[in-house]
Amino acid sequence: MSICFAFGVCANDKYMIDSPDKRIKLTFSVKTGIAQYQVSYDRVELIKPSTLGFKFQSQANMLANFVVESTDVSEVNAPWKKVWGQTSTAENHYRQLKVVLSESGEFPRRLHLYFRLFNDGLGFRYEFPEQKNLTTFAITSEETEFAFTDNYTTWWTPGDYDSYEHLYKKTPLSQITAVNTPITMKDKNDVFLSIHEAALTNYAGMTLIKKNGQALRLTSDLVPWPDGIKVKGKAPFKTPWRTIQIAKRAADLIESNLIENLNEPSVITDSSWIKPMKYIGIWWGMHMRKYTWESGPKHGATTENTKSYIDFAKQHGIGGVLVEGWNQGWETWHTGHNVQDFTTAYDDFDLAEVVQYGRKNNIALIGHHETGGNIPMYEQQMEAAFKLYNEVGVHAIKTGYAGKMHPEGVFHHGQQMVNHYRRVVELAAKYRIMVNAHEPIKPTGIRRTYPNMMTREGGRGMEWNGWSEGNSPEHTVTLPFTRLLAGPMDYTPGIFNIQFDPHGQYRVHSTLAKQLAMFVVLYSPMQMAADMIENYHEQPAFKFIEEAPTSWDETNVLQGEIGDFITMARRSGEQWFIGSMTDEHPRTVSVSLDFLEEDTSYIAWAYSDAMTTDFQDSPADLEINELVVNKGDQLTIAMASGGGHAFYLTPAKKGIDFQRLTVTQHNELAREKMLKFEQGKKYGEITQVKHLAINKTIRLLTQYDQGYIGGDNNALIDGVKGGSDYKTLWQGYRKKDLSVVIDLGELTHVSSIDIGFLQSILHSIMLPTEVRFSQSEDGNNFTLLGKESYETKANVPDYQQKKFQVAFTPKRMRYIKVTAKNMSTLPQWHIRPGQEAFIFADEIIVK
Ligand code: NOJ
Ligand code: CA
Repeated sequence: MSICFAFGVCANDKYMIDSPDKRIKLTFSVKTGIAQYQVSYDRVELIKPSTLGFKFQSQANMLANFVVESTDVSEVNAPWKKVWGQTSTAENHYRQLKVVLSESGEFPRRLHLYFRLFNDGLGFRYEFPEQKNLTTFAITSEETEFAFTDNYTTWWTPGDYDSYEHLYKKTPLSQITAVNTPITMKDKNDVFLSIHEAALTNYAGMTLIKKNGQALRLTSDLVPWPDGIKVKGKAPFKTPWRTIQIAKRAADLIESNLIENLNEPSVITDSSWIKPMKYIGIWWGMHMRKYTWESGPKHGATTENTKSYIDFAKQHGIGGVLVEGWNQGWETWHTGHNVQDFTTAYDDFDLAEVVQYGRKNNIALIGHHETGGNIPMYEQQMEAAFKLYNEVGVHAIKTGYAGKMHPEGVFHHGQQMVNHYRRVVELAAKYRIMVNAHEPIKPTGIRRTYPNMMTREGGRGMEWNGWSEGNSPEHTVTLPFTRLLAGPMDYTPGIFNIQFDPHGQYRVHSTLAKQLAMFVVLYSPMQMAADMIENYHEQPAFKFIEEAPTSWDETNVLQGEIGDFITMARRSGEQWFIGSMTDEHPRTVSVSLDFLEEDTSYIAWAYSDAMTTDFQDSPADLEINELVVNKGDQLTIAMASGGGHAFYLTPAKKGIDFQRLTVTQHNELAREKMLKFEQGKKYGEITQVKHLAINKTIRLLTQYDQGYIGGDNNALIDGVKGGSDYKTLWQGYRKKDLSVVIDLGELTHVSSIDIGFLQSILHSIMLPTEVRFSQSEDGNNFTLLGKESYETKANVPDYQQKKFQVAFTPKRMRYIKVTAKNMSTLPQWHIRPGQEAFIFADEIIVK
């Protein structure tokens, strides 16, 4: 409704629309030519007036001359059936406001806005209709704002144009500078929001930044082309939807269908070939360095090895086997210029024979294409490669984009790549191939339109545990409330050899029970049991994985707090699966079985952390119990630090003879375990920082650094000495200088400080050009203690570690600041002159 309708032209047009349940309200207005929207929930303002519009190259901005020409309100209620998913159907009920905008001035252009309000949030998009004053265009900035009403608590990953593989940070909104979406927030009334986008098609991925020092306002920052343009297009043209999920409980965010509802219905009419499945693969072996991708004495993808994976899959009811490293060219992957041949196998891999063997045993082979970021190379081969797979009978592939993009300057998440990723999905559909993309563009609900777009990485998955400090227990209980709101994730759960015996430099930061729970909690229609098959031998726990479905009829998120814990129940047919996971804190959770059918008894298999489970020493200890449960029963479960719990419930046959635990005994056992877990070791304890020579706990004060890709705030004090392999233990910073403040907790006598840096010329990791050490008593005024400069010359050995140090007669200080200058671009003598230089540091030792 327009408040100033009767007056014709007016300076302040205002239109309102609400969600079907009337709880969400959107107000659109044009105020002195500026278009704005604002949002409230239960009458409390969530988003303050926020501007809408664009800046173009060689055309006037579309920002400040808007007039409303007409509006239209409509309502749609059109539930739809999913090919696969967390539920079998999706509710889809919204009210839409369409606004036709024009401009004042001599050459008015037209812009349409669509706002759709559902009960679980809203989306809005722009449309440039066909018109003579706007034909082809180049967007230099989309000026969509999100002006929040308060300093919301926010869970976010940094605004990286190339990768989503970061740990989440939880900070007040005011501490953000740039983020990738989805981000999730909580307002002061405990209302939860998540900002993301839907139907990202022929457009650049959206990151969000702070502009003009505004503390509580985020603005769209689209990922650019190499020439700086954000989006190149031609009217008629629609942008993706900007989405705001809204929920009263964090858990409710997960049950939302908003993102999929804002996508077009499926264009694949016969979807009988699209089959969700569990899979195993020749994969973790490479990350564990038991195998290599490339051919040689340790080659993983041999015909023989693949056949033994197929045998295992058959024995255990697993649908597919992924094979990485089957095709020629892997030798080039690490060189930075990946050139692979996707139609020619290595000599020791017979594609036809392997597929044939799989078919005989009813096991699907999952192919693999690692582009390494070399897009022209891939686009040339794509169709031939898909054709080959289709001919031999491979109906699923995993793709990869691990590497710096070619051509130079292209980002993973820009318009050019968005279009590439879509071409892959469309071409795959043509050849009846399901896609699992790694290093992908983020999910935006395209799976509704192309249900062969099964799953993707697009987050920090299991692999990081294989070769880095890994993912904290908190990470996996943050993902369901953040990354997974966008869509399924190929996290690759199910590592049973948690401590990587017998070598074990790294490990998985969870218990075995939690690995099982991930099969319920971290949704993926292609779900990998990721460990090597030898680690599944004679493991009763594998039974749970055998039973776990990959598509569900119903999903109930029972409880959960972001980054702390989650419990969800999912139904497939008559069976229920309940998965619970905790962060570093041991925890009990009470589960009410009120979702079960009346008058049916269920056998429940409980896979839990055992009395002897200890995060540090015995994370793989697992207890399996059977009990009989009924609707209304109340179950208590106990989880160790980094632990989890998984239930599998199936209706009991009448007359079955149970000699199992009673519910009361089960709950009593859980309480006893909890007492034990509370005394056990916790994740994170070992790295607490007594070791920094002064025998005191040290806290890092430095804020999370945008460019920091190595780990989290504890990284510089991980207590493990760096080797010379840059992938292990060294912490990388890029673009920026490294700057760290250490708080010693109280005034302390310090006599020396040193910090080690790595130089690896080949990997563009350069020593700092200068390191400065300063001290302060109050944390504000720092005085310089000493500095050391360094000039890197050509012809230095490739791997070199250098310690920068300052020593003095003991001085009293509480805060120490270390700042190391990154040379930022590589010198002329380097093989990649002028390109980005990285700076990698390890332990700061204070004596
Ligand atoms: C990174 C992917 O995430 C991983 O799964 C894959 O094994 C490697 N790239 C090699 O393609
Ligand atoms: Ca990856």
